[in-house]
Amino acid sequence: MSVETFMLTGSMGCIGAWTLRNLVREGVRVVATDLATDPVRPRQVMSEEELAQVTFAKLDVTDLNAVKQIVAEQGITHVIHLAGLQVPFCRANPSVGAAVNVVGTVNILEAVRAHWGQVKGLSYASSLAVLGPADQYLETPVRDDAPLLPATLYGVYKQANEWTARIYWQDWQIPSIGLRPYIVYGVARDQGMTSDIAKALLAVAAGRPYHLRFGGPVALQYADDVARIFIETARSGYQGATACNLRNDVVDVGDFVAMVKARFPNAQLTYTADNLLPFPYDLDDSGLKRILGTVPHTPLEQAIDETVVMFKTLLAENLIDLKQLDG
Ligand SMILES: NC(=O)c1ccc[n+]([C@@H]2O[C@H](COP(=O)([O-])OP(=O)(O)OC[C@H]3O[C@@H](n4cnc5c(N)ncnc54)[C@H](O)[C@@H]3O)[C@@H](O)[C@H]2O)c1
Repeated sequence: MSVETFMLTGSMGCIGAWTLRNLVREGVRVVATDLATDPVRPRQVMSEEELAQVTFAKLDVTDLNAVKQIVAEQGITHVIHLAGLQVPFCRANPSVGAAVNVVGTVNILEAVRAHWGQVKGLSYASSLAVLGPADQYLETPVRDDAPLLPATLYGVYKQANEWTARIYWQDWQIPSIGLRPYIVYGVARDQGMTSDIAKALLAVAAGRPYHLRFGGPVALQYADDVARIFIETARSGYQGATACNLRNDVVDVGDFVAMVKARFPNAQLTYTADNLLPFPYDLDDSGLKRILGTVPHTPLEQAIDETVVMFKTLLAENLIDLKQLDG
């Protein structure tokens, strides 16, 4: 029997789906929680046999008692907190955004504090959006402790979480690691502007043209690697509260497109070269390396190939909706 029991929040999201896949393939018991109950994204990256090994539970992270109850009843040993509402939603509904992103994270920390000892590790999703515009960072690569200058409510909420976690260490010695993904790509990444990288690969698999809405240098992080980073940091035994940048592949979108075309000569990809994303891309991940030793990192070419192959299989099985390419 598995000695670990992981609880995921936001397990129906892209990173959640890949985290579930990795844990199940390791043979670890996992309790997959989310407000949503239909495992659409997990089904895109896992077989029915693998899904059958997961304990699914509906959980609203804004409900403190429910969070505490599930941690206690399921004997949770590690928590990976991914539930959150994204930039446009927080902008449109600031109160709900704060309830889920900020209070939800406090509730996770409270539940972990109430059951520390049984719970041995916590990693949670912060975001690169805690940083300000690239031109604010004269010193590069940008370190974990560079000033946080979020330019969106979403970024402000994530910043609040990083500081809340620090106080949980200061006052109660509850350790945690926050991770700051930038552009996560792979199967099941289907929402938001930065999902254009994943959608470009879906379009290649479908033989359709696709236009990426941005250009310039970015940091690309393969969803499978990001999932492993969440798992390994939760297990790391780190003593303290920190928040870490992720780096992996720093490339220009033009070079990414050229790389895809070199591998798939029929790819019909274009991009808006002069629309730059407003974030620093030259990120220092030495903080994460100090904790993990080696940061999981699939070579970009291999991740591109894997993703196109997976998308082709999903298309053949009618498990993916091409409507996402229109939005
Ligand atoms: N994907 C990226 O590129 C990226 C970049 C930076 C940070 N992040 C952060 O990583 C985390 C996971 O990202 P993702 O792309 O998988 O997100 P996602 O939007 O695909 O998934 C988030 C999940 O949270 C769930 N959720 C929303 N409200 C909830 C509530 N009240 N209780 C429980 N669950 C709730 C949603 O149903 C959804 O399944 C998020 O916190 C996100 O902010 C992601």
